Amino acid sequence: MWLKAWKQKKMDLLDQIVPERLPRHIAIIMDGNGRWAKKRALPRSMGHRAGVEALRKVVKTCSNLGIKVLTVYAFSTENWSRPKDEVGFLMTLLTEYLRKELQELHENDVVIRAIGGLQDLPKEAQRELNNSIERTQNNTGLILNIALNYGGRYEIINAVKKISGDVLSGKQQIDAIDEECFSNALFTRGLPDPDLMIRTSGEMRLSNFLLWQLAYTEIVVIDELWPDFGEKALLDAIIAFQKRDRRFGGIHTD
Ligand code: FPP
Repeated sequence: MWLKAWKQKKMDLLDQIVPERLPRHIAIIMDGNGRWAKKRALPRSMGHRAGVEALRKVVKTCSNLGIKVLTVYAFSTENWSRPKDEVGFLMTLLTEYLRKELQELHENDVVIRAIGGLQDLPKEAQRELNNSIERTQNNTGLILNIALNYGGRYEIINAVKKISGDVLSGKQQIDAIDEECFSNALFTRGLPDPDLMIRTSGEMRLSNFLLWQLAYTEIVVIDELWPDFGEKALLDAIIAFQKRDRRFGGIHTD
């Protein structure tokens, strides 16, 4: 559905992308909604609303390109410290997004997943999220993985607790704890680590995002604010990624 219309579009940037070397997993820190709104003398909530529009475009493009996983940082464990009405607005926006977009996402074969302390989200958001995850679980297209009440340190501690429990119950041998075992105890279990991480609005920080998984990820920081991010910026970031020389700590012998 999305793909058919997209294929009719002529995009020069697409010619620069090598299909065999697409990132399998793209992770995005969607930063700058507040500044986008401030520049326009609008309330911050309008920045978040515009941020949802950018997200819709990016999901569509990732799906059309054949990207396997897109992880977006929608709400961090630290974001609870924002004013109560902003937190409430972001939660409502999430519920609204899922409610409005589920059908189209489903028709386009998107799988919805979520990572983070989901049990602490408002009940309404949890209900909508569980429904979306369940509805789309047998799809085979893009995995849209939404990080909600997510923090890398929280995730790591959670994994340590899980593995410790397995050690105590005799299910896990200490000597057999390796990177694979640890990865499997994270919320991202079963997903490949991100190849490309994009952060908008020029900040050079990880902000507690996917601390374990980003070990060898290529990072692209873009000056544009998140609501201004669109198809062109995403394709530019992928082109930049494809020019990188990934050695994973080794050297090239050729
Ligand atoms: C960072 O901008 C953005 C967030 C904390 C929230 C991201 C949320 C969205 C893009 C929309 C909601 C998502 C879904 C899945 C419906 P900021 O507010 O920190 O911006 P600033 O740094 O300019 O203040």
